[in-house]
Amino acid sequence: MSKETWKHVDQYFSDHLIQSDLVMENLLASNAAAGLPAIDVSESQGKLLNLLIRLRSAKRILEFGTLGGYSTLWMARALPEGGKITTLEYSEKHAQVAKENMKEAGVKNKVEILTGPAIETLPILASNENTYDFFFIDADKKNNPAYVKWAIELAEPGACLIVDNVVREGAILNEQVDEEVKGVREMFEMLSNEPRIDSTAIQTVGSKGYDGLLIAVIN
Ligand code: SAH
Ligand code: DHB
Ligand code: MG
Repeated sequence: MSKETWKHVDQYFSDHLIQSDLVMENLLASNAAAGLPAIDVSESQGKLLNLLIRLRSAKRILEFGTLGGYSTLWMARALPEGGKITTLEYSEKHAQVAKENMKEAGVKNKVEILTGPAIETLPILASNENTYDFFFIDADKKNNPAYVKWAIELAEPGACLIVDNVVREGAILNEQVDEEVKGVREMFEMLSNEPRIDSTAIQTVGSKGYDGLLIAVIN
């Protein structure tokens, strides 16, 4: 089965299950125009995040890794009136593009973008006694273990946790690939001995290649 087939099947799903949406298309076009890498979630994955948030009736979302805000917009649209998403982004440039994109998409008042290394902005959230019922971790993978610990720290009981890129074309099986894969593997080690988190992981193929998602409940 080829990558072309995965891409066409994703397109087939989108054609049938996802309303074509000029706002989303414009957002991706403005990311490309600004030179951002096209490493956003796929359309089907964005919709999955949106559905999970609605299933959980989540109202307070924390995202790690904004890029241009494509996943942020999918999630913001799932929020009820008064709901809010906070998203953490290292790059000033990415945050600036995302800010503009959120304004264009009409979700500015639901989205808070905090610029800087997540490791430095997370303690601010904790000191303000913020808590969350939905987490999406999709930033620098080497810090995944720390991010999962922060999610536990900031979680409301029964919060949902999703982590992107946990397969990396199978690189996850290799012990010494790079810092990023090491971070993902350490996260799995942590989860194998973490009673507060109940999780599974699924392998995915599609327009973004072969990868996977961790799906968990934090108690
Ligand atoms: N969630 C986005 C894609 C995120 S790509 C989407 O699906 O649309 C990963 C992002 O994490 C990049 O924008 C990168 O700049 C950011 N990032 C990398 N290291 C980070 C760090 N230490 N803290 C916060 N964000 C970081
Ligand atoms: C990369 C990061 C991602 O979050 C992703 O979904 C795909 C690729 C990357 O850093 O290459
Ligand atoms: Mg990702």
